[in-house]
Amino acid sequence: MSSKRILITGSSGLIGSEAVEHFDRQGHQVYGIDNNMRRVFFGESGDTTWNLERLRRTCKNFIHHNLDIRDRIGLESLFRSQRFDLIVHCAAQPSHDKARDIPILDFEVNALGTVNLLEATRLHCPEAVFILLSTNKVYGDAPNEIPLKELEKRWEYARPEDYNGVTENCRIDRTLHSLFGASKASADLMAQEYGRYFGMNVCIFRGGCLTGPSHSGVELHGFLSYLVKVAIAGGSYSVFGYKAKQVRDNIHSHDVVRAMEEFAENPRPGEVYNMGGGRGNSISMLEAIAKTEEMSGKKLNWKYVDENRKGDHICYISDLSKFKAHYPNWKVSIGLDEIFKQIIADHTQRLKSAGVS
Ligand SMILES: NC(=O)c1ccc[n+]([C@@H]2O[C@H](COP(=O)([O-])OP(=O)(O)OC[C@H]3O[C@@H](n4cnc5c(N)ncnc54)[C@H](O)[C@@H]3O)[C@@H](O)[C@H]2O)c1
Repeated sequence: MSSKRILITGSSGLIGSEAVEHFDRQGHQVYGIDNNMRRVFFGESGDTTWNLERLRRTCKNFIHHNLDIRDRIGLESLFRSQRFDLIVHCAAQPSHDKARDIPILDFEVNALGTVNLLEATRLHCPEAVFILLSTNKVYGDAPNEIPLKELEKRWEYARPEDYNGVTENCRIDRTLHSLFGASKASADLMAQEYGRYFGMNVCIFRGGCLTGPSHSGVELHGFLSYLVKVAIAGGSYSVFGYKAKQVRDNIHSHDVVRAMEEFAENPRPGEVYNMGGGRGNSISMLEAIAKTEEMSGKKLNWKYVDENRKGDHICYISDLSKFKAHYPNWKVSIGLDEIFKQIIADHTQRLKSAGVS
């Protein structure tokens, strides 16, 4: 890409910060929006200030705006002042379980905040590429209808045709989403309309488990980061239901940003893609606990709660065939071992900086 003006919302979060660093390194002018609302949602351990400070220290062409995506007037004035070429929308209330305590706030941030950004884009830079970070929770619990078999350490798809996981053809209605899944589905559908109805360069990534060292992991969101944090810094980890054999596919934030870059160079208006670690980066809770202990050398203090989280997936693997077919230069480049290694190193470093060894 030649030098572009890139707006990244949720820029102090996991995916947003990875995108800021990546595009900054390439010499683009990067504008971030983040009001540290993760701290409002999850308390002090969700505070993203450390990550904003890190970006300010390391990036050359990064301008941060402490703006709320619900603030339509603030967005309007930002979009009037700059003509963006690419908008990467990562700001969200990201937790499945948290949404039930704050249904209105969850909807305002996830659904309305997204429409505010789509509309500002349509009015001020309609030719820009717009990438929405959506979620596999838009499928609700429909993926749980896929027949499963129980293995010693994980649930597994029973039929060979399901081996690669869930495709974008999975239905998104008549399922149990959680309020979070429903607010994200609203955003996902509106973004599709701006692509299909208005013909704008909008795409939607339906994330599996997005992970990496820059997560401010908390119990309610960011499972790998939180699991490693508890193993290293202490505390207790609870696993809810499904015999601790539930399976997730994990993708490093770098590979998500690489996918954004591929789309931005060759946009296909209104497309929806599943975006996760795929079969190769899938792991069950039992396997993740064993790997964390093995790689960190620390024993995890965990307990099993015999009730699953409402609407939680039993086995979810993102089928990545569609994105790979449209963008053959892209692949999952960071495997599970490297992901664990980086998260462990980062939490160890954070603990050291906090003066605890
Ligand atoms: N992490 C995952 O496992 C995962 C999985 C699927 C989808 N996603 C989606 O990917 C996106 C990014 O997720 P993440 O893991 O980086 O989340 P994150 O919580 O680390 O980052 C989101 C950032 O948005 C900011 N934010 C929240 N509300 C805001 C508001 N009203 N105005 C401005 N900033 C606000 C937060 O302060 C936070 O820094 C989200 O849309 C999330 O739903 C994440």
